[in-house]
Amino acid sequence: MKKLKIAVLVSGSGSNLQVMIDAMQANRLPIEIVGVISNVADAYAITRANNAGVRTVVLSHVENGKKMGIRTFESRATKLLHEWSPDLVMLAGFMRVLSAEFIQSAPCAMINLHPSLLPCYKGLDTHERVLKSGDKWHGCSIHLVTAELDAGEVLTQAVLSVNVDDTPERLRLRVQKLEHALVPFTLAMIAQGFLVLGKVPTCLGASLPIKLYLD
Ligand code: GRF
Repeated sequence: MKKLKIAVLVSGSGSNLQVMIDAMQANRLPIEIVGVISNVADAYAITRANNAGVRTVVLSHVENGKKMGIRTFESRATKLLHEWSPDLVMLAGFMRVLSAEFIQSAPCAMINLHPSLLPCYKGLDTHERVLKSGDKWHGCSIHLVTAELDAGEVLTQAVLSVNVDDTPERLRLRVQKLEHALVPFTLAMIAQGFLVLGKVPTCLGASLPIKLYLD
């Protein structure tokens, strides 16, 4: 099977990147990570990629003490993505809002991992907000990236039920565990051609979003 070439954008710890690296190295998924771009110089995700021999580029917010504007970041990232020619761009803990121009000029579809059951709780502090609202259900989503923040079509979700003794930190860890299952599931669906990311994404034999109850 032809491997799905993936470029990954990160800003933080990269635990989801690690799941992808492990699956690629063990041949559990037909994927090839063609490069990792970080906007944070000391993101642990970069160490993980370097340890795995995956090409990395840091396009830091702060370069020589000067802030890199979003336009500079985007034009450099666009150039790299066209050089690497991935089939898919994955935002895995990438914490910078991207412009419509950047998204449209990407060489392929772009997806994002978000720690809530979208369309609920777009943006930050999702676990705190879920607890404050007294929700019974929480989880994570993978969605198409569009110009509007966390608003593109939701492709897959993993769901958990909120426990009475959950705190934001407990929920974060429980959701992270779900993410580590949702990411390889979703990439397998795309790589195997079940999930097709056209303008209107479609899934063979299922309606979107596909929901996993793994808790
Ligand atoms: C994840 O919780 C993801 O949902 C959010 O950022 C976090 C990234 O975690 N967008 P990691 O860097 O993969 O550990």
